[in-house]
Amino acid sequence: MGFAARVREVTRSDHAAAQGMAYFDALLGGRLDRPGYTALTAQLFFVYETLEEAAGEMRADPVAGAFVADELARLPALVADLTHLVGADWPARVSASRPTSEYRARLREVAFTWPAGFVAHHYTRYLGDLSGGQVMRRALQREYGLEGPGTLFYEFPGVEPRAFKQRYRHLLDTAPWDAVEQDRFLDEVSLAYRLNTAMLDDLGKVVA
Ligand code: HEM
Repeated sequence: MGFAARVREVTRSDHAAAQGMAYFDALLGGRLDRPGYTALTAQLFFVYETLEEAAGEMRADPVAGAFVADELARLPALVADLTHLVGADWPARVSASRPTSEYRARLREVAFTWPAGFVAHHYTRYLGDLSGGQVMRRALQREYGLEGPGTLFYEFPGVEPRAFKQRYRHLLDTAPWDAVEQDRFLDEVSLAYRLNTAMLDDLGKVVA
């Protein structure tokens, strides 16, 4: 089994827990109102602000730098979405929840200085966005009639998800990490899932 397949296998239950959050159930079922949907976009802004700052630092790293891809950048889309959903004064009207702040603190702690730790967080968010995120994009269109501004976060112009994920898995398979570093990576992916799950659990309070 290649390392990418092992990552998926080892974190299968973490993924199932993240995917099973009530917030997604409500989102996919068309039961969120606009503030309820906007709340996720706002929290994601705070996550990507730090994650993409770390990507800027890691770009020069011989291993982690290969995972950094400009076409993934989500921050411009999140800013445009929040401007559309909340208004031009959105920075004054949104704030990071406690779990999101803890998520950001962990990113600060590991993603700027530990290449494999950065990749663990990068993998958990972007491969998810290119997978479940695309399921959400279709649901937002189907259930809420939302597309374009407000949901740009879910659109990756110029990225073919399937081919991109294949290339990404190849990078994971060939990353020069020894067994100890691979295990540390797996633990960090698992933690990244838990940080996402905690953020989503908190968002669940907006679900009626
Ligand atoms: C309703 C919510 C979700 C749905 C419907 C969903 C669905 C999926 C599906 C169908 C795949 C497989 C895609 C493929 O093999 O190409 C996938 C993969 C993935 N998802 Fe999710 N997902 C959800 C939530 C999440 C969350 C919250 C995260 C983490 C923040 C996440 C992270 C990932 C990752 C990292 C992968 C790639 C696994 C791999 O192939 O290595 N997903 N998701």
